[in-house]
Amino acid sequence: MFIEEADRLKELPPYLFAEIDKMIIEKKAKGENVISLGIGDPDIQTPNEIIVELGRQAKNPENHRYPSSYGLMLFKEAVANYYKKRFNVQLDPESEIITLWGSKEGIANIAYSFVNPGDVVLIPDPGYLVYKIGTLFSGGISHAMPLLEKNNFLIDLNRIDKKISKRAKIMHLNYPNNPTSACSNLDFFNEVADFAARFNILVCHDNAYSEVYFDENSKPASFLNASGSKKVGIEFNSLSKTFNMTGWRIGYAVGNKKIIESLGKYKTNVDSGIFNAVQYAGAMALRDYSRHVQHNISIYRKRRELVYNAFNKIGLEYYKSNSTIYIWVKVPKGYNSRSFTEILLNNAGVVVTPGNAFGEYGEGYIRISITLPDSSLEEALERIKKVL
Ligand SMILES: Cc1ncc(COP(=O)(O)O)c(C=O)c1O
Repeated sequence: MFIEEADRLKELPPYLFAEIDKMIIEKKAKGENVISLGIGDPDIQTPNEIIVELGRQAKNPENHRYPSSYGLMLFKEAVANYYKKRFNVQLDPESEIITLWGSKEGIANIAYSFVNPGDVVLIPDPGYLVYKIGTLFSGGISHAMPLLEKNNFLIDLNRIDKKISKRAKIMHLNYPNNPTSACSNLDFFNEVADFAARFNILVCHDNAYSEVYFDENSKPASFLNASGSKKVGIEFNSLSKTFNMTGWRIGYAVGNKKIIESLGKYKTNVDSGIFNAVQYAGAMALRDYSRHVQHNISIYRKRRELVYNAFNKIGLEYYKSNSTIYIWVKVPKGYNSRSFTEILLNNAGVVVTPGNAFGEYGEGYIRISITLPDSSLEEALERIKKVL
């Protein structure tokens, strides 16, 4: 029997991280020792008290029933309190917040909730791949907004063709940014909110890395800090990187009521919400966010310095930023993203992500992630040094 898969699956580009995993497996099968700087998945443990709370809540039979697709009120109240304390943004937990199975789910499902076949969706390039894939699955047309180093990887709104802006339905944004590690500022968010209001575009800002920053005096902002932002947009956020909870699958979207309501309408038809015990544990994490965040930052700060120092010595150029778990590195002369990735894998046994896997404007870069123990990171840097 042969059942043909749907066209939308055939149109998919190969999933970047699946390809990297395959390369790692092949090397390991040959007995080679491979160190991966390829995937941004925190190696630091979820704080113990959050795990204990999950266990406690999991024993309560009340939590064994279907959860709501919109989320548990107690969790949403914890999100609202966090947004008030951290960003000074006021949110109504009932109507302006929805719980997600991680922000990835929301990013994919916002496309199903708003994009009709043929609609244009503005996408940062290089960028997190789900913006493009959600658009593709819902029949939309992606239009790349280049992130260029000369603009500090901020989108140049003036460069977007007016005809495209008029047709665009959604604009995806992501600062602090994966993969470039660039951070935004309130002026830029204000410009985006104005632009979106002018062209009637829904802004979806992805703030998954809001709590990985290295300058206490300029913490990443929320898009909802911009004036008029709630009229035009929503923000995705996540517990994944903030509390080292990638495997728990819990995130949320906040902002414009009508948009949140439509996303919920879609979700009630395809999911049944997140295990309430996970939401109780997530609420506990958010209540004490500052302590957990400081712990992570102290670890990442040391690793980032380790990499910066090593690259300064080797002469590898990188974008010096104050946020995220990534370092965006220029490939040396004579290489492109792919050939440099291959050299590092084949001659050093180090996995990195080629920049062009995030979009055509990522060509000429590789991304490395600092989510591995210091000793492995040091070993990887030693190996890279020997290859260059
Ligand atoms: C920019 C960005 N957004 C969203 C996500 C998804 O995070 P999650 O679904 O775990 O909340 C990731 C994960 O790596 C990411 O890099």
